[in-house]
Amino acid sequence: MKIKIKPVKKIVGEVIVPGDKSIAHRALMIGALAMGATRIKGLPESDDCNYTAKAFRDMGINIRRELDVTIVEGNGLHGLKKPGNPLYVGNSGTSMRLLAGILAGQSFESTLTGDTGISARPMKRVVEPLNMMGVKISAKDGEYPPLAIAGGRVRPIAYKNSIASAQIKSAILFAGLYSKGTTKVVEPVKSRDHTERMLKYFGAKVKIEGRCVSVRGDRELKARAFEIPGDISSAGFFMAAATLLKGSKIKIRNVSINPTRAGILKVLSMMGSDVKIVNRKMRGPEPSADIVVKYSKTRGITITKDMVPSVIDELPIIFVLASLSKGKTIVEGARELRVKETDRIVSMQNGLKAMGADFRVEGDRIVIEGPKSLKGAGLKSFGDHRTCMALAVAALTAESDSEIEGMESVSKSFPAFFETLFNLTIA
Ligand code: S3P
Repeated sequence: MKIKIKPVKKIVGEVIVPGDKSIAHRALMIGALAMGATRIKGLPESDDCNYTAKAFRDMGINIRRELDVTIVEGNGLHGLKKPGNPLYVGNSGTSMRLLAGILAGQSFESTLTGDTGISARPMKRVVEPLNMMGVKISAKDGEYPPLAIAGGRVRPIAYKNSIASAQIKSAILFAGLYSKGTTKVVEPVKSRDHTERMLKYFGAKVKIEGRCVSVRGDRELKARAFEIPGDISSAGFFMAAATLLKGSKIKIRNVSINPTRAGILKVLSMMGSDVKIVNRKMRGPEPSADIVVKYSKTRGITITKDMVPSVIDELPIIFVLASLSKGKTIVEGARELRVKETDRIVSMQNGLKAMGADFRVEGDRIVIEGPKSLKGAGLKSFGDHRTCMALAVAALTAESDSEIEGMESVSKSFPAFFETLFNLTIA
């Protein structure tokens, strides 16, 4: 489906974004493995999280909604039942990779499948360490879904990951819950730490020391209640739009500001954006705050390799900011972007170049030179939610109308994205 986007003068008002997708997956998963009823407020109604919930329902877990609270009735680490069919996770990479770790410890065989998009995404990165843990797990051509998992005995390992990936780390930690011993993961740069925070909150023995995290297995988790803060990755699109459109001022309420995710706040400040963090709180194991952003002139910056994991999902919108900022923006070590819902280097370069941006790829580096005034164009999401939302913000700032093909992709993380955005715009 196509959507037409007209340029606007500014955006003004208060924004509520859906609950954080990464935290929500973990809340459902850890709730389903804990003993008792976990009550979660603010679970997003997005496709990816619905697939995770459906997978656990298929394994006999009762998950129900009472107004804005989702109740997950966990039966303990060994309380899952063998599903009658392959578990289908749609386009959700987090569901597939994290579930692989959980299924590794079950006493039944299972299969994980997904849509055509996910069937082209790399899985060896979780298959290999799980194999090392003694789990029989295989992928198509050793790399792609479906994953066939013969759960059973799990050996604890110490794993040195060459990629900073929370999905890999989490799959190993989840499998480690089923081992008799301590499982350890070391990363090159610390990736998002929602799994370790939440496991600790539910009573697991977790140790976090810099880039190293370990968990002790064979210990039951206890149900907890908490509220999921808003998704900073969804909030990023509004922060960028307010920064770029003259006269804008917005307040985004209750956003996750977990330091392993909040790189966008640092990047915006480095670029000269007027961002304020107010009303800080803890929501269970996760910090949150309200974020106020006003229009400001911005300049190009260098994003080094060690900053990339904390902005990995925000790079598409950072490319838009860079195109409209004065000077050169360089992003180093952005290779992981190539294996997201799309190759986001290609999808964003395609859209921004069509609008007139100067976007160059030099090996693992991306160089964007601005400011370029963007012109309206026919754009494509390539079925990727974040490419779609980033290009929508670019289109708001353009000189003429744009059209984006594949608007339905936003339902993956933010079904009400366009409604929320258009409610703030002033023509
Ligand atoms: C996620 C981790 C990141 C991120 C993805 C969600 C998670 O992927 O890009 O959107 O919830 O663990 P990688 O682990 O592949 O970096």
